[in-house]
Amino acid sequence: MPNITTSKEKTIIADGLSPKGRGLATDAKIEVVGALPGEEILIELGPKRKKMRQGYLRQIITESSDRVDPRCVHSPKCGGCALQQMNYNAQLVHKEQIVKKHFSSLIEEHKPDLHPILGMEDPWRYRNKMEFSFSENRAGEKFLGLMLAAERGKVVNLSECHLVSPWFSKTLSLVRSWWEEGDLRAYHHRSDAGHLRTLTLREAKQGQGKMVMLTVSGNAAFALKKERIEQFVECIKESTQDEHLSIFLQVHQIAKGRPSQFFEMLLSGPDHITERLYIDLDGKTHTMDFKISPTSFFQPNTIQAQKLYSLGFQALTGLHKARVLDLYCGGATIGLSAAILAKEVIGIELNPHSVFDAGWNQEVNAIENFSIHRGDVGQVLTKLQLDPAFTLPDIVIVDPPRVGLDERALEHLKKISAKEILYISCNPKTQAVDVEELCNAGYSLKMIQPVDQFPHTIHIENICLLSKDVP
Ligand SMILES: C[S@@+](CC[C@H](N)C(=O)[O-])C[C@H]1O[C@@H](n2cnc3c(N)ncnc32)[C@H](O)[C@@H]1O
Repeated sequence: MPNITTSKEKTIIADGLSPKGRGLATDAKIEVVGALPGEEILIELGPKRKKMRQGYLRQIITESSDRVDPRCVHSPKCGGCALQQMNYNAQLVHKEQIVKKHFSSLIEEHKPDLHPILGMEDPWRYRNKMEFSFSENRAGEKFLGLMLAAERGKVVNLSECHLVSPWFSKTLSLVRSWWEEGDLRAYHHRSDAGHLRTLTLREAKQGQGKMVMLTVSGNAAFALKKERIEQFVECIKESTQDEHLSIFLQVHQIAKGRPSQFFEMLLSGPDHITERLYIDLDGKTHTMDFKISPTSFFQPNTIQAQKLYSLGFQALTGLHKARVLDLYCGGATIGLSAAILAKEVIGIELNPHSVFDAGWNQEVNAIENFSIHRGDVGQVLTKLQLDPAFTLPDIVIVDPPRVGLDERALEHLKKISAKEILYISCNPKTQAVDVEELCNAGYSLKMIQPVDQFPHTIHIENICLLSKDVP
């Protein structure tokens, strides 16, 4: 039969992957959810967004040898996974190439040890946290799940997700039934109307506890009635036999021209979960326990997080008896582990809940040579350096958010001029920019170690070691 195409249809060859993990036809500037490099595909042209046109995959004419059957019924439409249709080894190769691309000029100049990406033995059910969204369409149909990949603001009604344990989908289904039973509405951003915003689920993989947090609108007209909240708690309790089940309500308060405010209320159970990490340090494996409060950051992949930290420590040449700064330290998972060998570790963290967690973590792990300052890294470092008691560190460990280091933090790092900087990042693009700036200030890039914390997604975690040769 002849291949009949409409005027909106087009045959293209994907020659790469876009930053979002979609098949990319570079010259035509078209990205296609679900397509892989090397594939000839029939697409329907969609809207143009930020110089890139969307294409909807209609038929694969020539299939990539890397293509596999995705495990999930929602793939590739669900925005949670971009790469499930690519075999796992090919995903790792692709991620290594991304890191090499961002660091290409630095690799050429500094010739660092470039380690192969560390993949997962079992790249499924690895996430310890996932945030799901509530959404409704004009017809009043209800959706609870992850964002669709190519359709802005639309949510897929998840029935399964293979990045998390089955408890997550069971809980989603119970919450959906609870939602169906009453007249609560999904929150709508533009009108500030509706009740329900997100549902965040967390579970310890090697430690103890499960946590559920329902985030609702702070608009008083949509406050949840006590009875509905009690029904929510009962419904969550049906999801598990786990006696360490924490249930929180979070109110998301918006006000024009001001940053959002969040208020958490404990509805049932303990106020935190605890995760356990096995950290390899100096030839020994250390068991460390960490408290996680509802808004605190914790690396989303427990198994890979402990490898990430262990590999980072292994790269450092002088951790033994060193003075260490742990910047953007969260609950001080890195700093407290480093303190086992170091002389002294100082952490800096903005989120007050994480700072409290760090205090608990310090006590539970019996670490004495650690202290923490709450505040913005740049501001705290300015203050610290004015303190006559402050001694310059030998090692600085940084693990900033995706945007990377801000101007002030970078200036401080240059001035502090520690012998070694261990830079951990979930965004190799901004990391490479920061590393280049530090290299321009006299550092050499010694080592690059990518770690796959996020199988089946396009995201990459990367470690860099920088060092300064003392004249
Ligand atoms: C990627 S997380 C790393 C946390 C920790 N190192 C770990 O591995 O769990 C980044 C942390 O930086 C904190 N943060 C973000 N902006 C900050 C700032 N300007 N100053 C200090 N901390 C900040 C966040 O609250 C978060 O805990």
